[in-house]
Amino acid sequence: MKKYAFGVLTLLSFSLVAQSKNTPVEDQVEALLQKMTLEEKIGQMNQYNGFWNVTGPPPQGGETSDKYQNLATGRVGSMLNVRGVKEVREVQRLAVEESRLGIPLIIGFDLIHGYKTISPIPLAETASWDLEAIQHSAALGAKEATAAGINWTFAPMVDITRDARWGRVMEGAGEDPYLGSLVAAARVRGFQGEDLSSPHTLAACAKHFAAYGFSEAGRDYNTVDIGLNTLHNIVLPPFKAAAAAGVRTFMNSFNDLNGIPATADKYLQREILKGDWNFDGFVVSDWGSLREMMDHGFARDRKHAGELALNGGSDMDMESYIYLDYAKELLQEGKVTQEQIDDAVRRILRVKFELGLFEDPYRYCDEKREQAVTGSEEIVSGVLDMAKKSIVLLKNQNNLLPLKKEGQKIALIGPLAADKNSPLGNWRIAAENFSAVSVLEGLQSYPGNTITHEQGVKLINKVPAGFHEEVDINTTDKSGIEEAVASAKDADVVVMVLGEYGFQSGEARSRANLDLPGFQQELLERVAAVNSNIVLVLMNGRPLVLNWADANVPAIVEAWQLGTQSGNAIAQVLYGDYNPSGKLPMSFPRSVGQMPLYYNHKSTGRPGADGEDAGSVFWSHYIDEKNSPLYPFGFGLSYTSFEYSDIRLSAPQFSKGGTITAQVDITNTGKYNGKEVVQLYLKDHFASATRPVRELKGFELVELKAGETKTVVFSIDESLLQFYNGQGQWMAEPGAFTAFIGSDSTTKRSAEFSFN
Ligand code: GLC
Repeated sequence: MKKYAFGVLTLLSFSLVAQSKNTPVEDQVEALLQKMTLEEKIGQMNQYNGFWNVTGPPPQGGETSDKYQNLATGRVGSMLNVRGVKEVREVQRLAVEESRLGIPLIIGFDLIHGYKTISPIPLAETASWDLEAIQHSAALGAKEATAAGINWTFAPMVDITRDARWGRVMEGAGEDPYLGSLVAAARVRGFQGEDLSSPHTLAACAKHFAAYGFSEAGRDYNTVDIGLNTLHNIVLPPFKAAAAAGVRTFMNSFNDLNGIPATADKYLQREILKGDWNFDGFVVSDWGSLREMMDHGFARDRKHAGELALNGGSDMDMESYIYLDYAKELLQEGKVTQEQIDDAVRRILRVKFELGLFEDPYRYCDEKREQAVTGSEEIVSGVLDMAKKSIVLLKNQNNLLPLKKEGQKIALIGPLAADKNSPLGNWRIAAENFSAVSVLEGLQSYPGNTITHEQGVKLINKVPAGFHEEVDINTTDKSGIEEAVASAKDADVVVMVLGEYGFQSGEARSRANLDLPGFQQELLERVAAVNSNIVLVLMNGRPLVLNWADANVPAIVEAWQLGTQSGNAIAQVLYGDYNPSGKLPMSFPRSVGQMPLYYNHKSTGRPGADGEDAGSVFWSHYIDEKNSPLYPFGFGLSYTSFEYSDIRLSAPQFSKGGTITAQVDITNTGKYNGKEVVQLYLKDHFASATRPVRELKGFELVELKAGETKTVVFSIDESLLQFYNGQGQWMAEPGAFTAFIGSDSTTKRSAEFSFN
């Protein structure tokens, strides 16, 4: 009976707002907008964090609490961090069945790299350069999150960054705008799928708009001051690619950009995003970023912050409660306009209609599906596949890798060797802590060898109980080093797992140093003194300084934070069941003093050699370090080897509307089948604004059997030459260019052409 009543009630409340489902969305939006009071409109612009355990008793203050009442009276448009079908159904019921118009909530969550089953951190996924795999990984995350009631993710984070000190480098696609743009589009497609109204897809969110990755000194939330040249040529392209891929929401960034907080930046949000790019989704603020404009010294008070944010193009207020408190007054005082409010609400309603939430606000609330999908074989095998593809082989002297599968005594050493928590990375709110497969467990799944395990040194002083628990890095306790050294002494090979604790990168985790934290370096050197057969497996959320390891350790594997299947992926690579194919999406420095460090740097007026004698001191360099990275952007080795032919151009020049091709033959000259990321870089020799020494403009992931040769062909047309030029126009300029094709950003293999 109850169920029946429930059904009738639901149908009745919907009839107030949604016409038949084949009425065009725009008509449905307009029709609903006409019915809404000002309070109800402002309510849509208000987003609350999950503020009570909704499956438990109501929040303190009970059902009379203002937040509870706002939910029940249509003064909340969205919630975040409400998760699990039971919780979502409860808050949705309040909004849909108790309020006058029954407008459903859009339920947001930080599905950054997996929901309960965690995939590799986005920086690691990018290292695969496998756009299909990245898209599929996002789709699997969407599948698991939507089964838990989520219909909007605050991802992809598309902030380009060149500074490994910034903790959030783990969350993005690294330093290059071309690669970052393709990854942004792939992740949007993965999250949103072909049909946003499918219960297996959710709305994506391009963030953080804009330039957050340029926070000064790599210190999170710090100020950003960059010129229009960098803004348009480096920062904006991935956002534009996400918009072109159909992303339905944007999130603004905490930082001020050239003196204007992004939250109130009309140029960014109204002129570029909603104007030039014609974006018709909505912009959500970052957490409390409206209120923070007072701390920026940009808003006089909360009310003034609301005026600035709405005028600046921010449509929804995450956790500042400012639109809720002041939008009506600001309208009455003429500080904001009805059109601005209606436009913001139209955008929010549009996305809700596209998600099918008016047709059925409980479409994401299916307990059976939640049971069936969460942790399913499809998702677990998908994150394992993504993890293997994300691993980068940085060094393999004398082919120490792959390891023999039997008869070996392996000493597994390091604070992260048995760690089941750090591989999950920082953004794993919905995952069970300690749910990752450790390296120890991964290696133990290969029974043919004898594995001993010693932590050597603790990395942290206490194990966190849960998310956001702060910990100290161990700088006091060296106990365990002797046992580790003893275990290394009579081992055939030592596998050391070193790097960063899972919460040493991510939001609010900037570091002023990029060394191995704590006593890990000392442990590494002590072990190397008794056994040089070391495979160093790195588990980290950012580029690190690895000079000593590079000079003294024969094999180095960059394993990032690979998520739930971390240990299995690493073991399959170490034993050669997967031939590593990853390439670095960020430069690894020789010193933190080189930050910011990136391959697509400008020539400067005094370019010079790197470390060799340049004949004088008067060139752009350090007197105590090289300019070049230790490992460059695009670098990654394989268990096999590849040989490239010279570049063949179809013509030495082309003009407007024309195209030339650049091709190479690539041969697998080793004994393993393998994959190579063939990369195309272009150099624009002179232009109306200084240009990078080279820029990635194409790549192809090529699978080659041992001994096989394939030809890779790149088409070069005007679109690859366009840039934001000295006159502020996005265009290609005639001139001389060089094409480089090779296995990383330092390749010398080149051919000249001109564009007339
Ligand atoms: C955080 C982050 C943002 C995230 C939001 C909601 O502070 O900056 O990326 O989506 O708040 O958790």
